[in-house]
Amino acid sequence: MTAEKSTLHPRNLHRNSYDFELLISCVPELKHYVFINSYGTPTINFSIPKAVKLLNKALLQHFYAVKNWDISDQNLCPPIPGRADYIHYLADLLTENTEEIPKDLSIKGLDIGTGANLVYPLIAHQSYGWEMLGTDINQKSLENAQKILDDNPDFSSQIQLKFQPDSNFIFKNILSSDNRFTFSMCNPPFHDSEESAMKGNLRKTKNLKKSKTPKNNLNFGGQQSELWCEGGELAFISKMIEESALFSSQILWFTCLVSKQENLFKLTSLLNKVKAVEVKTIDMAQGQKISRILAWTFVPKEKRKDWF
Ligand SMILES: C[S@@+](CC[C@H](N)C(=O)[O-])C[C@H]1O[C@@H](n2cnc3c(N)ncnc32)[C@H](O)[C@@H]1O
Repeated sequence: MTAEKSTLHPRNLHRNSYDFELLISCVPELKHYVFINSYGTPTINFSIPKAVKLLNKALLQHFYAVKNWDISDQNLCPPIPGRADYIHYLADLLTENTEEIPKDLSIKGLDIGTGANLVYPLIAHQSYGWEMLGTDINQKSLENAQKILDDNPDFSSQIQLKFQPDSNFIFKNILSSDNRFTFSMCNPPFHDSEESAMKGNLRKTKNLKKSKTPKNNLNFGGQQSELWCEGGELAFISKMIEESALFSSQILWFTCLVSKQENLFKLTSLLNKVKAVEVKTIDMAQGQKISRILAWTFVPKEKRKDWF
């Protein structure tokens, strides 16, 4: 193992370079994709979806005890270190009234748009013991997520899934009046059209210095609805903020990833309008990729400790 990836959260288990020998011992097929780069370091070609998927499989198995994890080639293939960062920053957010990070099933998290990969609930439960509910508008994605749970019985009683039948809603149809969650989280669809999703994908591929990119190669995977929605992330998160005011006493911290820095001003203005009592922006950096978590609550500080 070599250099630390120091931009990741201090508790992130992926700060060190990948130990491919160990990872290959978890998923032997990975060895076909590992090569030594010009710096003499073992690596994979991150523009090959199969290679990334096998790496994920090995990381989830070794670090998070997920024995069987698979997604179709059409699905979004998430970078595990970045996804883990969100979970660790959420854990920090929950420590404002406690000395220690709450690590048990009394913490309930809602993952909006969990996708076929189910990665946030898996990492959250294994890292901190939290109970998780994952939602999605895509039945096929939820079927795959359910298969992952069926293949991993140790997780299946603590992670639930729920179908959102109407893409116009985030919390409605999901929460009943007696449901309470410590937090909600979301990696929202980013692009505002399928075309923009395709272009973004081609850009990523080029950044990975892959010259011969087939035109429609969704190299990071990602079915249409996973990567785009009408109005892009600004519209999606705005909808989430407006709806959150209706569920203000049922979720302690609402949170969402915001990719575009320039959307923050509009979103925080909207949060003022709906009278969120506290708004936080938590910066994250995974290598060169900068993103942030927008977090807001309607519960005054003195009452928040009652949730734990
Ligand atoms: C960018 S993907 C994130 C998938 C996964 N959480 C991840 O980080 O890899 C966004 C997900 O949100 C889902 N989605 C879109 N609108 C939704 C809604 N109104 N409620 C729940 N999920 C939604 C999509 O189907 C997709 O799976």
